[in-house]
Amino acid sequence: MRPSICHLNGVDLPLDEARVPVLDRGFIFGDGVYEVVPAYGRVPFRFDEHIARLGRSLGEIGMRDPLGHEAWAALLARLLADNDPADQCIYIQVTRGVARRDHAFPKDTPPTVFAYSFPFPHVPESLRRQGAACITLPDTRWLRAHIKSIALLGNVLARQASAEVGAQETILVRDGWLTEASASNVWVVRHGRLAGPPMDNLKLAGIRVGLMDALAATAGVPLERRPVAEWELRCADEILLTSATKEVLAVTTLDERQVGTGKPGPVYAALYAAYQGAKQQQAD
Ligand code: PDD
Repeated sequence: MRPSICHLNGVDLPLDEARVPVLDRGFIFGDGVYEVVPAYGRVPFRFDEHIARLGRSLGEIGMRDPLGHEAWAALLARLLADNDPADQCIYIQVTRGVARRDHAFPKDTPPTVFAYSFPFPHVPESLRRQGAACITLPDTRWLRAHIKSIALLGNVLARQASAEVGAQETILVRDGWLTEASASNVWVVRHGRLAGPPMDNLKLAGIRVGLMDALAATAGVPLERRPVAEWELRCADEILLTSATKEVLAVTTLDERQVGTGKPGPVYAALYAAYQGAKQQQAD
C-alpha cells in the first residue's frame, strides 16, 4: 500500500507531514464540522448528500462552504486515486481557522480545510453473523446534535462506556425516547414494521436515514418515521444501526439482554441486501 496522501488548505501531501497550528479553533474550541464519506471501488457513495449536509452543518455554525460541490468532487477524486485500497472513507473537516483565542468569531480568518482517506473499515464477517452488542445511556449531549460538529465529547464518552464492556455501540435515550447512537442512527422492528425517530435537532440526519425509504421499499418492509419510546427498544424483535461505516448492522444484545431471537433477523437481512444493491447500482 502507498503512503497515505491527505489534503490541507489547498495542498495534497503525505498524511504524516500535515501540520495544523495549535491555535486552530478546531483544536482550541472544537469549532468546526466534519463529514465521513464512504467510497467503494474509489467512487464516493451518496456524495451529493454528504456535501449537502456539510453545507448545512457549515451554515448552522455561520460558515460558508469554502470549496463548493465541484471542488469537493475533484478533491475526493484525487484522494481516492492517490490512496489504497479501493474501498475507502474520506474524512473531511472544516474549522473556523487559526486566530488568537477569543470565543467570538475572528474576522477575515480563512477556514482550515482538511481531508484524508482511510481504508474502509468493513464490519468483520463474524460480527455481521453474530450481530452487535449495545448498551443504553441517557442522551446528555447538547441540543444541536443535527450539526455534524467536531466537538464530539458527549459522543466520545458515550461510546467509551460501551467499549469498556466490550460492546460495539451505545444507544442514547432522552426523556424516555430513542434519539440515536454515539456514531450511528438506530431503528427498531416490531411485528414486521420498521420504525425510526423523525429527524430533528436531537439527532444527526444520517445519509443512510435519507436512503431508508428506498431501502425499505426494495426490501418490502413497512417503514414508520415516528418517535420511538424506550420501552419499544427494550421489547423490539430487531434493532438496527446505520452509518457510513456500519452500513446496516443488526443489534442482537441490548444491555446484556438478548434482542428478539438473539440472531440478526429477517428485516436486517433484507435491508442489508438492499443496501448492497444500492452500492452495486451506483457502481453499474
Ligand atoms: N458517524 N449519528 C451520529 C452521531 C453519527 O456520528 C453518525 C455517523 C450517524 C450516521 O450518519 P451517516 O449515515 O451519514 O454515516 C448518526 C460517522 C460515520 C463518524 O462519525 O465516524
